[in-house]
Amino acid sequence: MKKVCIQVDRTLGEQFRQFLVDHDLFDPTFPITKTGTHLYFPLLRKLTAQELAIVSQEIGSYKQLERDLEPLPTKPSDLSAALEGILPKELHEWLPHSFDIIGEIAVVELHEALKAYVTRIGEAIMVVNSRVHTVYAKEGGVKGVHRLRPLRLIAGKDQRVTVHTEYGVKLAIDVTRTYFSPRLGTEHNRVTGLIQPGEVIVDMFTGVGPFALLAAKRQNVHVYAIDINPQAIQCLRRSLELNRLVGKITPLVGDTRTIIDNQLTGKADRVIMNLPNYAFSFLDAAAKALKRGGGVIHFYGITTESQPQTTLETQVLEQLAEYGLKAKITTVRVVRPAAPHEEQVVLDLQVVPRKRTSVT
Ligand SMILES: C[S@@+](CC[C@H](N)C(=O)[O-])C[C@H]1O[C@@H](n2cnc3c(N)ncnc32)[C@H](O)[C@@H]1O
Repeated sequence: MKKVCIQVDRTLGEQFRQFLVDHDLFDPTFPITKTGTHLYFPLLRKLTAQELAIVSQEIGSYKQLERDLEPLPTKPSDLSAALEGILPKELHEWLPHSFDIIGEIAVVELHEALKAYVTRIGEAIMVVNSRVHTVYAKEGGVKGVHRLRPLRLIAGKDQRVTVHTEYGVKLAIDVTRTYFSPRLGTEHNRVTGLIQPGEVIVDMFTGVGPFALLAAKRQNVHVYAIDINPQAIQCLRRSLELNRLVGKITPLVGDTRTIIDNQLTGKADRVIMNLPNYAFSFLDAAAKALKRGGGVIHFYGITTESQPQTTLETQVLEQLAEYGLKAKITTVRVVRPAAPHEEQVVLDLQVVPRKRTSVT
């Protein structure tokens, strides 16, 4: 198409460009073209005689003319637009509506129907999100003691370690060897917003430490951050340096029950139990970690059709009672859907001793 341009000597290029930008005359949707001696800046409109006079006076000689130019390609608005003409039309309905972005890494769940196009979809994700350099596809559910999900690299750089920022905290994460979900950000923020200065916190299943790091960044507290996965604790150690929080968190590798038994009995004002499928079987350890006068437990669990929220609440309260603790549920919150008909929930529990016995 014909586009009005200003032709200038290459030596005057930067001055002209700046002038055109300052006066809202430069059209960035078209390319700047060049010949051996001249540059051609695309214009939003023809310059008035007055503007032309200023240009020649302030900068130097020029010519206003028309050139054959095509507009620069625009960034597609979504994955479907980025795959227009690449992915058969009938497959667009299977494209994911969202995916996780962890630092510069995207993690996406792709339907079986898209199997033949995974690389093209990965590339399209990078086009739509310019900060994404690596794309992994989920190859199954979260499993095992370390709660890891099998991932397969489908596009971009072969990179598994990144730094993700959540509420101003830098989190070092190895996406293939540690658990992390950016979908828990609101919960990390909520819980750490409840913390009072001076508290001692035991984060029983810290992962790469998002609760611990945000708590230590926000308040003058000390956090014992425990995880059985050495890679997760290695990431946490790196984050302590990145956030200048060394000394405010004690990272501990190993089984949380053993560590509490050996080092942390009766130490905590607050205990975080973010291991939703199995937290119930660690309630004894959480009870043991609390100070004799009691404290707060953030208990994460899963509700299902056969185990609704009220059942979970009763079970947790009864179990704590068995350890000689009286608890009041101060908040119940659905954190996120876990599977069809399943929800991850959190119970905030204010706990006090019922009688003068301790958990053995
Ligand atoms: C759901 S992930 C942690 C999530 C983390 N709190 C967060 O918000 O990102 C659960 C973590 O518990 C750890 N874990 C599982 N069993 C454990 C145990 N017995 N002792 C300590 N950590 C354990 C896993 O390695 C995993 O990192």
